Amino acid sequence: MTFSKTADAIKRADINYHMHGNTSIANHSLSGPNIIKSASGMRIKDIYGNEYLDSIAGLWCMTLGYGREEIGEVAKESISSLGYTHTFAGNTCESTALLAEELVNLFNSNVDNSHISKVFFGHSGSDANDTNIKLMKLYNNLRGKFSKKKIIAREGGYHGVTTMATALTGIPAYHSAFDAPIDEIVRISAPSYYRFHKEGETEVEYTDRLINELEDVIEREGADNIGAFIAEPVMGTGGMFVPPKGYFGRVQEVLKENDIILIVDEVVTGFGRTGEMFGSKTFGIAPDMVTLAKGLTSAYAPLSASLVSKKIWSVLESSSDRYGPIMHGFTYGGHPVSTAIASKAIEILKREDLVNNAKTVGNYLLERVKEATYEYPYVGEVRGIGAMLGVEYVARKANRTFFKKGVGPHKAVADECLKHGLISRALPFVDVTNMAPPLIINKEDADECVMRFSKALESVKPTLDEMYRKSY
Ligand SMILES: Cc1ncc(COP(=O)(O)O)c(C=O)c1O
Repeated sequence: MTFSKTADAIKRADINYHMHGNTSIANHSLSGPNIIKSASGMRIKDIYGNEYLDSIAGLWCMTLGYGREEIGEVAKESISSLGYTHTFAGNTCESTALLAEELVNLFNSNVDNSHISKVFFGHSGSDANDTNIKLMKLYNNLRGKFSKKKIIAREGGYHGVTTMATALTGIPAYHSAFDAPIDEIVRISAPSYYRFHKEGETEVEYTDRLINELEDVIEREGADNIGAFIAEPVMGTGGMFVPPKGYFGRVQEVLKENDIILIVDEVVTGFGRTGEMFGSKTFGIAPDMVTLAKGLTSAYAPLSASLVSKKIWSVLESSSDRYGPIMHGFTYGGHPVSTAIASKAIEILKREDLVNNAKTVGNYLLERVKEATYEYPYVGEVRGIGAMLGVEYVARKANRTFFKKGVGPHKAVADECLKHGLISRALPFVDVTNMAPPLIINKEDADECVMRFSKALESVKPTLDEMYRKSY
């Protein structure tokens, strides 16, 4: 379909009628939308013909790169031969049933000691997290553990914006306006050695402190009141927090001792982002439930998946006669077009060996960004894994003094990057800009990202100097 409206007409329609997510209404009515017209690989074009290098793959999701005709063909075939079926009362279709089988096998064959048994389909990372929390509650109700429902979630964690996912999210800016039900949540610290260690504390001592905190929190609340712990393998939106060595191994020991299930939110880390098929493999995690979205379809269609382990499933299954149907499901969950696209996306990911590419080119990009920022006075740390990295800004590098809250050096950098044709993102919890490119990125693309990023850092330096002067 071609649209023939002028840029001005689109802009007017958007300002007058479109309510955007994560956008200031006041700013939008003044500056208007970015109108994206077309895209290919990791480059996108706006309606005025400006080209941008998309170093964040949309919202960490466009893993296979833009403009895959093969995926368009699969969508067309699925729409013209079926178009829709739901999954209530045992309905299914070929693409949905086969994708469920594929996901169970893919997870279990990639992640050591995992015991995933079933897949429930939704459409977003947020709803899949809600599903996992509901299933945890059902699991504990069926076991007669009626009070075991609170959820341990980490500061800075991002789990989405439905009501429950908002509460799970550990970024206060998401809570206050919406009265998120945070009384169901027990909040603990995020794991990032650089950001949160105390002066003189080694990484091992820092990890000990995190584990002690977890044990204390469980003792304080009572293990009988805590049903789950939810965690992203690498905290993306929170600030690109890569956990310290041994963290997840020790967390899992504590959870097992206290009969608390582990929900791993792989919405960002799933399907290659960390340089392994799943972040659970990278960090030696054997989850009880998993949340998948984004890379599942490479963002070509909305689809999420909640993976349920044998431990949970066996309780649900054995109580089924007495309990009746599971009264949870979405009209569009397991939509045939989305599930057909997901199977094709996984086929391409494997065929083009993109998980390895994420590891090798991702690491190259990380090293190049480190080199390029080594002497820059306001870059405190560049960290990452696979094809995801974050640059953290500090006011004083020597003693790790952060900019005053609200100053926003990372926002100034991200805005400047745009002027140099690079899309990066200022994250909402700490002063970090991130890159998480499509996994198809090659070394030339990586060099180009670094070149544009370096130019942006150079031209934004007077602004950061001014921010520093205002802060100190
Ligand atoms: C780790 C994580 N979980 C959940 C979500 C929510 O996914 P969605 O925006 O599809 O609801 C996101 C989105 O960025 C995410 O990064």
